[in-house]
Amino acid sequence: MSRLPPVIMDNGTGYTKLGFAGNNAPSFVFPTAIATRDSSSKRGIEDLDFFIGNEAISNSKTYGLHFPIRHGQIENWDYMERFWEQSIFKYLRCEPEDHYFLLTEPPLNAPENREQTAEIMFESFNIQGLYIAVQAVLALAASWTSKETKDYVLTGTVIDSGDGVTHVIPVVEGYVIGSSIKHIPIAGRDITYFVQQLLRDRNENIPKEESLKVAEKIKEQFSYVCPDIVKEFQRYDQEGDKFFQKYKGVNSVTGTPYEVDVGFERFLGPEIFFNPEIASSDFLTPIPEVVDNVIQSCPIDTRRGLYKNIVLSGGSTMFKGFDKRLQRDIKRLVDLRVRRSEELSGGLLKATAVDVNVVSHKRQRYAVWYGGSLLGQTSEFYSYCHSKAEYEEHGPSICRHNRVFGSLKT
Ligand SMILES: Nc1ncnc2c1ncn2[C@@H]1O[C@H](COP(=O)(O)OP(=O)(O)OP(=O)(O)O)[C@@H](O)[C@H]1O
Ligand SMILES: [Mg+2]
Repeated sequence: MSRLPPVIMDNGTGYTKLGFAGNNAPSFVFPTAIATRDSSSKRGIEDLDFFIGNEAISNSKTYGLHFPIRHGQIENWDYMERFWEQSIFKYLRCEPEDHYFLLTEPPLNAPENREQTAEIMFESFNIQGLYIAVQAVLALAASWTSKETKDYVLTGTVIDSGDGVTHVIPVVEGYVIGSSIKHIPIAGRDITYFVQQLLRDRNENIPKEESLKVAEKIKEQFSYVCPDIVKEFQRYDQEGDKFFQKYKGVNSVTGTPYEVDVGFERFLGPEIFFNPEIASSDFLTPIPEVVDNVIQSCPIDTRRGLYKNIVLSGGSTMFKGFDKRLQRDIKRLVDLRVRRSEELSGGLLKATAVDVNVVSHKRQRYAVWYGGSLLGQTSEFYSYCHSKAEYEEHGPSICRHNRVFGSLKT
């Protein structure tokens, strides 16, 4: 019997990635937003009267706009259920009872959330089977595409940076080392705000209502990570023509075209990962230091593997030069520690160098989704899922835990 491909859904704080296993990219990417009519008078009809994604955003003047996921976690189950409903019937246009589903969850998600997800998936949508995968593990699987050798390791440090939050997650043989995970309160949205602020300080003539959207576009189109900000300022001073850019927009109300000069924000935006103090005074640890601390807090015999495979995932790791800068800065911290310990031993100890590798690859933007697509097309996938029959026999509590994809071979 040939099966229909599993549905892969990665619901992020900012964007939902939606499609079928076996594909290289999600078929749909849209904001995780829902617009509803909140009048309680029309109970029944109102249930069907809502929009999701970009349609939700464009109807936000007449409907109430909601974002059911916050910091990676589902906060409003009613909105989420309706969001899933349209995702399945209006976008994927599939019959959920004909498919297995792979959903994703942030690290350290509560088991109750999995149970609740299972209940909606099996009872409201009657799906064939369910697997809820940890985003970081999927991102590791996605990085296999970058390897020439067929060396499928599920050990590595994942840096997943989306819109709302950045996580640094050590994974050893498919298991997340929960106690060592660190969150960094700097992600895509913070960089957008910072770029918006810089543009505003310079009095660029951007229509006020569009300023956030324009800042986001400028960030995505023009920003990059430089090796050294002092030198970068000098390069702009000396050869400005090579670096300054123009963003062209059209005022959505009046239809008048306008231009924005884009300068230092090109490299200052993502610099807040490396020098957080330029944008805030609350969180001050540079990202290379966070990564180093995370790995140092893991069991000693896992550390080499974790330094050797630092994997990037999510929209906010897409800045050109991000991987190189991160690798260089982590390597510096590691080398410094090695040298110190050699000095402390009075030259008796000769440590072997630690291999630091930051892995960048072409599926990085949607790495979590893509990792799901890879796992979803293996025959083992079905044996890891909870099936409808199992759910009916044991109830939602069987979905509190998922088996871990161990040494999976594709
Ligand atoms: N080419 C790019 N360069 C820099 N940033 C980008 C690029 N493309 C997208 N982004 C940013 O990536 C962010 C969205 O990333 P992603 O889809 O991974 O987040 P998410 O999964 O919705 O959120 P989270 O993982 O925090 O729950 C947005 O802030 C967007 O502006
Ligand atoms: Mg995400």
